[in-house]
Parts: sequence; structure tokens; C-alpha cells
Amino acid sequence: MSFEDYFNTIVDNVNKRIEKYIKGNVKELYEASYYLFKAGGKRLRPLILVASSDLLGGERERAYLAGAAVEVLHTFTLIHDDIMDEDTTRRGMPTVHVKWGIPMAILAGDLLHAKAFEILNDSFKGTSNNKISKAFEIFTKAIIIISEGQALDMQFEDRSIVSEEEYLDMITRKTAMLFSASAALGGLIATENEKEVEALAQYGLNLGIAFQIIDDILGLVADEKELGKPVYSDIREGKKTILVIKAIKEAKEDEKEKILKTLGNKNATKDELSAVAEIIKKYSLEYAYTKAEEYMKKAIDSLESISWKNNEAGKALKYLAEFTVKRRK
Ligand code: IPE
Ligand code: IPE
Ligand code: MG
Ligand code: MG
Repeated sequence: MSFEDYFNTIVDNVNKRIEKYIKGNVKELYEASYYLFKAGGKRLRPLILVASSDLLGGERERAYLAGAAVEVLHTFTLIHDDIMDEDTTRRGMPTVHVKWGIPMAILAGDLLHAKAFEILNDSFKGTSNNKISKAFEIFTKAIIIISEGQALDMQFEDRSIVSEEEYLDMITRKTAMLFSASAALGGLIATENEKEVEALAQYGLNLGIAFQIIDDILGLVADEKELGKPVYSDIREGKKTILVIKAIKEAKEDEKEKILKTLGNKNATKDELSAVAEIIKKYSLEYAYTKAEEYMKKAIDSLESISWKNNEAGKALKYLAEFTVKRRK
């Protein structure tokens, strides 16, 4: 089977389950809640979850459901994130709060948050009590840590100096934890061997760090149409991405002043944002790519400590780590 077939089968099955669960008779709420799934998205977290389960010989039906649970949870975080970041497009479409207003978008997020638990519960039904309790522990912990990461991300907007260490801690929480939880849940479907589940959690964590570094790079270099979300919004919002941190450290005094003047200025024009983006990129692009590759390699290394039951799944997990760095959207 080609990678494409392997991935398409997973995405189709996960999508079917999402569609089945996100239904109800309060029309506007369910439309707002289902909207982003229809708009697109890479489905990376379910792909990682199902391939992780396959790697150790887990049951596909459970993995599809757990994959749906992490994607539904991810979508909840996207809806609320776009409110926090004041972003107006996502997956090439107007964001949920732009279409339905902030109150309904908050509710759509709340609904998906609860739905994610409903689906997770169904995916582990009938397994051991130990597994069920572990699954809820992994899932709940991920949500708590994402909230902490999102809070740090916003707090950093008000600070001009943030260290790279603080940045890495923040993105580990806001983004990498869910990738880690996805890989671990996949593993847990297949086995109670804690070492193997932990190795998968490490794979997901390092992949997730690489993923967010690339997300921050793409926010400065991508084609807006292809990316499906606005470029330069991180500069407008005053986000302390690894690129901004590196550039502030390395830039000449006059360039540093320009960066700090535009960073976080919500009225900056597209031209001003793009001029500052050029300065930032000059000092940080190569550095950030190298960092992302380091974490991607760490992710692949943790796969080596597991005895694979399914070669195709192992290769798919490696491919997904490499794709995380190579992607253009
Ligand atoms: C976007 O995640 C949010 C981040 C954690 C950076 P994705 O890039 O996986 O978004 P979709 O699901 O493909 O739209
Ligand atoms: C997304 O972070 C993290 C979560 C949604 C939890 P970003 O704000 O950096 O992601 P994008 O760029 O809006 O997708
Ligand atoms: Mg955002
Ligand atoms: Mg954000």
C-alpha cells in the first residue's frame, strides 16, 4: 500500500466518525461546530494516533474513534485560538467567530471539548479499567497543559524579551502536548507496556515542537492562500516566536528598533508588517529551520527504541515527522 492510500484510509474513516458525532438539533450551534471539519485541515493528529496504534498492533476501530477524539479536541482549540489571536481566516475560510460571532464560537468550542471526551470514552469502552483510566489521564493532562501554553503565549505578547527556553516551554505546552497525547493514546490502544507508550509520547512531543517551529516560520514565509490563514498575524499580535526572539538578539540597533516598534501594533499596515518580516527572516530563518530539524530527528530516534509490529506504520510515522518540517501549509 502506498503512503497515500494508507493515509487516505485513515482520514476517510476518522472523518466518518467525526460526522456521526457532531450532530444535533440546535442547528446554528452544530453548523458552527462542524464547519471547520468541512473546511479542510491536515488531520495530522489522527494520522499519528492511528499509525502509532498500528505500529504496536492495535485495533483499527478503536484507533479511528480515538483519532476522531483528538481531531475534535484540536478543532475546539483552533476555534478558541482564533478568538484569542483575532484571526479572521482558517483553512482558507472565515473563522468561526467571524461567521457566527464570538459568543456562538465560544459555545461551539465548548461543545467540541465535551464531544471529544464522549468519543474518547467510546473508543476505549470494553478495554481494561487500567487502560481507560490511563487514556483519560493522558487526554485530560493534555488539555490542562494546552491551556497553560495558550496563557503563556498571550502573556509573552506583553513582554519584549522572552528567552528561547521560555519559548520552547510555551510551544511544548500549547502544541506539542496534543501530538504527544495522540501518539501515546495510539500506543495505549495496542499495549499496556509503559515503555513503548512513553517512547511514542516522546516521538509525538518532539514532532510537536518541530511542528510549531515550522508553523511560526510559515507565518512569515508562506503563501497566504496556500496556508489558509493570515501571514504576519504573529507580528501584529506581538507573538514571541523563535524567529522574533532570535532576530531581536542578533539584529543591528536600528533594525531592532524597527522590529520592536511594529511588533504588537494592531494598526500596522501590511507593508510595515512585511518590511519587519524581512528583517526578522534575515536573522532567524536558517536558525529556526535547523532547530526544527533537530527536534524532528529526535522524534524519529524515539521510534527506534520500539520493536515495530508493523513496518508500514513505522515508516508512516517517520514520514509524518519529515513532512512536519517539509510542509508548506
Ligand atoms: C494548527 O494546526 C494549530 C497549531 C498547533 C499550529 P494544524 O496546522 O495541524 O492545523 P490543521 O488541522 O491542518 O488546519
Ligand atoms: C495554536 O497556536 C495552538 C493551539 C491552537 C492550541 P497558534 O496560534 O500559533 O496557531 P495558528 O498559527 O493560529 O494555527
Ligand atoms: Mg493562532
Ligand atoms: Mg495562538
